[in-house]
Amino acid sequence: MIKISALEKKQIAEVAKIHKKVLSDGFVSTLSENFLNKFYLALTESPDIFTLVATRNKKILGFVSCTTNVKKLPFFLIRNLWKDIILEMLKNPSVILKFIESIFYPSFNDSAVSCEALSIAVINTERGQGIGKNLILNAKSEFKRRKFAEFQLSVRSTMLNANNFYQKIGLSKIKTAKFLGEEINFWKGKC
Ligand SMILES: CC(C)(COP(=O)(O)OP(=O)(O)OC[C@H]1O[C@@H](n2cnc3c(N)ncnc32)[C@H](O)[C@@H]1OP(=O)(O)O)[C@@H](O)C(=O)NCCC(=O)NCCS
Repeated sequence: MIKISALEKKQIAEVAKIHKKVLSDGFVSTLSENFLNKFYLALTESPDIFTLVATRNKKILGFVSCTTNVKKLPFFLIRNLWKDIILEMLKNPSVILKFIESIFYPSFNDSAVSCEALSIAVINTERGQGIGKNLILNAKSEFKRRKFAEFQLSVRSTMLNANNFYQKIGLSKIKTAKFLGEEINFWKGKC
């Protein structure tokens, strides 16, 4: 049986590994596993952020990370991870520009919706069984419990599987924005 629950500290290393493997196209995945561990640890310490994990017999099959205050996220991460960010930059100077650019991601600046699902991933052997949908349904309930009525998420338009999934689970495409030459689709859902 699949269980959906809040991320516990002891599960962070596994979530970081899944993030790096499944969301390998994203900027955060290019950073070290140590950074990803610190990143998820920081997320568990914010009252605005929650991460839900789907497990079967304690094995993590997927997760979704969400915030109720997307505009505050860059400042929260800089405040909590500045030492780790500098370390990553020293180790690999090519990430310096990426860190700076990511502050200008459309969600952080011109978003009318404060709730955002930041990342969702299901390990590839477990896809197509309703786990992704279940994670989003639980995220919606959590947003609702926190008195929010809607949420959004954004994804590159080239990620066809993810865009098809969002459409299939009933989200509505609200806008498309350009970021660093790439087209980003914004999807919105009611909680
Ligand atoms: C996108 C993702 C989270 C979907 O998770 P999943 O557990 O496989 O999806 P579900 O089984 O819950 O599917 C829910 C519905 O969406 C549909 N669906 C899922 N993937 C789909 C796809 N690629 N194309 C069309 N429909 C899709 C399913 O058929 C299902 O429809 P149904 O309710 O009518 O049966 C998963 O494929 C994944 O982790 N992908 C890689 C990471 C990623 O792209 N993340 C999103 C960007 S941050």
